[in-house]
Amino acid sequence: MRLLVCGGAGFIGSNFVRLRLAEHGDEIVVLDKLTYAGRRENLEGLDVRLVHAGIEDAEAVAGALKGVDAIVNFAAETHVDRSIAEPGAFVTTHAVGTWVLLEAARERAVRYVQVSTDEVYGSIEEGSFTESSPLAPSSPYSATKAGADLLVSSYFHTYGLPALICRGSNNYGPRQYPEKLIPLMVLNALHGDTLPVYGDGMQVRNWLYVEDFARAIGHVLAHGAPGEAYNVGGPDECPNIDVVRRVIELTGADESLLEYVTDRPGHDRRYSLGSEKVRALGWEARVRFADGLEQTVAWYRDNRAWWEPIRSGDYMEYYRRQYGRALG
Ligand code: NAD
Ligand code: DAU
Repeated sequence: MRLLVCGGAGFIGSNFVRLRLAEHGDEIVVLDKLTYAGRRENLEGLDVRLVHAGIEDAEAVAGALKGVDAIVNFAAETHVDRSIAEPGAFVTTHAVGTWVLLEAARERAVRYVQVSTDEVYGSIEEGSFTESSPLAPSSPYSATKAGADLLVSSYFHTYGLPALICRGSNNYGPRQYPEKLIPLMVLNALHGDTLPVYGDGMQVRNWLYVEDFARAIGHVLAHGAPGEAYNVGGPDECPNIDVVRRVIELTGADESLLEYVTDRPGHDRRYSLGSEKVRALGWEARVRFADGLEQTVAWYRDNRAWWEPIRSGDYMEYYRRQYGRALG
């Protein structure tokens, strides 16, 4: 296929691009704003064309879309804590940016896949969300992602755009920006920095290895029904404190680094997705959390050149603001 992958220089997008090139030989154009989270290095050595622009830039989008069969949109501001501190960019990218992409897709009648999140359903104490569960987002991040999902659905209902939505649970794996729980804990543990656990650490996340999510998006792109949403949950759920303790074991860090800190405002307690619908398309998660976490820790150990420039740049300033202390 000839694909336009928006946000393809980020964590999941670049893993998706790698998988598609290796397993499908697609022709790929990446359109990415290269925010703090988008990195050219993530696409190094890959046969893709990179257009450096935001999805809200209609002219750049129209140019990048020439000759393309389908759009897969990963482009987003993705960190919940940043959305609490400064929600503006979340509104622009998720609402305006998604609208611009949908208009461009409508004009050319191309298939459109919106990459979304389990957070649009909000928190669930027991059981799992299905695709028909009501949307009840808690943070500015998830509220603007839910808004984008509704806009995508409206383009199917109103204009007949062949648009689909793929909602994933918490991803982890290589090339994840270290503001997120797992890479943050791994890098802090490797450096002897404290490991900041929010609240009581008993919040539960449903962990999905990034390659499994990338493969699921491919299934939805190829076999999903227009107008439908598909949940993609990981095979294992785990309280945060257990994730952090396992990182301590895998890195050989000292347990005294663990520190309970002030909770995230409006913190969702538990996410859980039922994935029967995407399974019916032939998808199955391949990586269990225990194995994937071990591989991920090994990847960060072996790829200093990837994260060293991040730990010495704007990230240090962000960390100081967010956690009220400097990294060592
Ligand atoms: P990421 O932050 O690593 O990457 C986001 C990418 O989008 C970056 O390359 C960034 O430069 C780009 N971007 C941001 N604003 C843009 C704009 N206006 N125009 C063009 N590009 C822009 O995020 P990720 O974790 O790879 O997430 C990718 C997608 O998957 C997001 O839509 C996110 O909501 C969704 N998602 C993430 C997870 C997760 O656990 N990380 C789980 C489910 C769904
Ligand atoms: O569920 C899918 C979502 O997963 C995606 O849509 C988001 O883009 C992605 O960022 C992620 O959101 P979370 O808020 O769940 O991920 P995060 O890595 O920020 O936090 C995971 C859990 O760990 C959460 O309960 C908060 C907690 N946490 C996080 C950080 C960064 C801590 O206890 N300490 C921390 O320092």
